[in-house]
Amino acid sequence: MKRRAVIRGIGSYLPSRIVTNAELAARVETTDEWIMQRTGIAQRHVAAEGETTSMLATRAAEAALAHAGIDASEIDLIVLATATPDYTFPATATQVQNNLGITHGVAFDIAAVCSGFVFALSTAEKFLLSGSHKRALVIGAETFSRILDWNDRTTCVLFGDGAGAVVLEAQDGKGTVADRGVLSTHLRSDGRHRAKLFVDGGPSTTGTAGHLRMEGREVFKHAVGMITDVITDAFAATGVDADTLDWFVPHQANRRIITASADKLNIAPEKVVITVSEHGNTSAASIPLALDVAVKDGRIKPGHLVMLEALGGGFTWGSALVRW
Ligand code: ACO
Repeated sequence: MKRRAVIRGIGSYLPSRIVTNAELAARVETTDEWIMQRTGIAQRHVAAEGETTSMLATRAAEAALAHAGIDASEIDLIVLATATPDYTFPATATQVQNNLGITHGVAFDIAAVCSGFVFALSTAEKFLLSGSHKRALVIGAETFSRILDWNDRTTCVLFGDGAGAVVLEAQDGKGTVADRGVLSTHLRSDGRHRAKLFVDGGPSTTGTAGHLRMEGREVFKHAVGMITDVITDAFAATGVDADTLDWFVPHQANRRIITASADKLNIAPEKVVITVSEHGNTSAASIPLALDVAVKDGRIKPGHLVMLEALGGGFTWGSALVRW
């Protein structure tokens, strides 16, 4: 027998305002055609003034709890991944905890940028497997619109706001890949790549939140190799392969990175969930947002094998293999 962290429910939330490529083309020198061709992004959602990361996260968490049929009082752990917290401190997770009326257990944030959801899932899994906690909310939530330089066409067209959440519960499994739940996680980081993707401000440097800066071509160059490495690690650790996978739900940064990674791994295109066209890159929120779409439209069903992966600033990168 082996304890497993099983996904009981999923939910997400997108701000109501949609910004199309045409709207951006009126603001910076770009075109719908360029953005679609290079990234696959058609639109993104942007938070309203005063709408914060903790608000988006709370809506996603409420939806995930409702989907799981679990009351907030049964949650004893909240792990929230974000690079755009409401405040420098306290952790955004504690605001979500308070919004949900939870006064027991523990809530904290994870900073791994676009890899945040995979890092948060892996962290929560380890808490549940240790026996210290029973039911977790794992949330990815971002308001990247607040750290974009809206005059920089090389970055402002890529990102969007949103939040997604899963309810994770400790259950007993048999210890085989037939078990439901998280079957493997592989996390990596390498700080030598900082300058390729970073925010040029912070409490201890400029005293401001700063703006996102990126060497897009450099990120692209490294992304496919790093992503496929951690997925190959997951395959080796579990004996699963591209053929036995039901779904590939990657971080939604760019359609070209997603399809190049799937091609390299021989994952069939019809198994790849792509939502970047509607959401843009929502950083830590992108995987649970994509999962929620594919679960609610009936593609991902209980028992399916799902591979998650992400790469983000740092660099950080990781994979998680889950049986739904
Ligand atoms: N509209 C029109 N032209 C543009 C735009 C724009 N929005 N942005 C850049 N250009 C121009 C450039 O200035 C350049 O012009 P030049 O040749 O006259 O100098 C030309 O387009 C080509 O620029 P490149 O940067 O070479 O374009 P590329 O094909 O590499 O596409 C992109 C850029 C989409 C950013 C790509 O490099 C990419 O996807 N990189 C990965 C980055 C990424 O997804 N980051 C997300 C965060 S990390 C993560 O989540 C994995």
